Amino acid sequence: MIVYLNGSYLPREQAKISPEDRGFLFADAIYEVVRFYHGRPYRLADHVERMRDGLDVIRIAADADFYPEVAARLLAENGLAQADAIVYAQVSRGAAPRTHAFPPAGVRPTVFAFARAADPEPPPEGGRAILVPDERWGRCDIKTVMLLPNVLAAQRAREAGAIDAILMRDGIAWEGTKANLFCVSDGIVRTAPNGHRILPGITRGAALDAARRLGLAVEERPIASEELFTADEVFLASTTLWTYPLIEVDGRTVADGKPGKVTQTLKEELQREFLTP
Ligand code: PDD
Repeated sequence: MIVYLNGSYLPREQAKISPEDRGFLFADAIYEVVRFYHGRPYRLADHVERMRDGLDVIRIAADADFYPEVAARLLAENGLAQADAIVYAQVSRGAAPRTHAFPPAGVRPTVFAFARAADPEPPPEGGRAILVPDERWGRCDIKTVMLLPNVLAAQRAREAGAIDAILMRDGIAWEGTKANLFCVSDGIVRTAPNGHRILPGITRGAALDAARRLGLAVEERPIASEELFTADEVFLASTTLWTYPLIEVDGRTVADGKPGKVTQTLKEELQREFLTP
């Protein structure tokens, strides 16, 4: 596997990052995950823009412009140019002796990226989710690598045999550990509004666009956990899952326990956008 590190393409075993890297010491870093199919990215410009916004907000002096070129080269180097693949990239504030405040001027950000084949699709009959408290910080809109609460919640889901955990705060089901959350009730496609409590998912935006194109009513407002049990459909949306039906939440069946039509139609619509040259 050939990876990218600070301007070089090299075998993964040779890619070395300082133990003083602030990504390692403080989770002081921003990341992105972009999907490619046959070398064609899905909404790459949106991902680059979100990375740029994240870097700006946490004041890392790096540009996200590297993404398209580095991604294309990584896909080629790793024999993935014709594959369904993802390209992960991460930018940290760089390596410097440990102090909480920013390192001296001149410390260069660390830029790391890799490509790999996309995970196989999860079972089409839909998945189960559990509800767990949202223990994340107050800026979930910034895509930092500070993912410990997500990691712990995802592990709880795995141990419960569920595909994901839905993060709950103040009675609101905000999103999954690595995906946005939607429900469909009385024909209205609903998801939490962008703001500090959720990641402004690229797939979330694409699914809302697709729903509008299809003439469906959409509403961006917080989803109370109780709504999940009366909804006609509940689904996750992310770069890796597209839209993916949840058929059970916290041991309670969603609607009739079968994947819903809107979830499937939106997935087809997203994939059409992705696959149409
Ligand atoms: N996760 N919400 C959270 C907390 C996420 O981590 C992600 C993405 C999403 C969906 O965003 P998008 O549609 O832009 O992929 C929502 C990535 C895939 C990850 O951490 O691997």
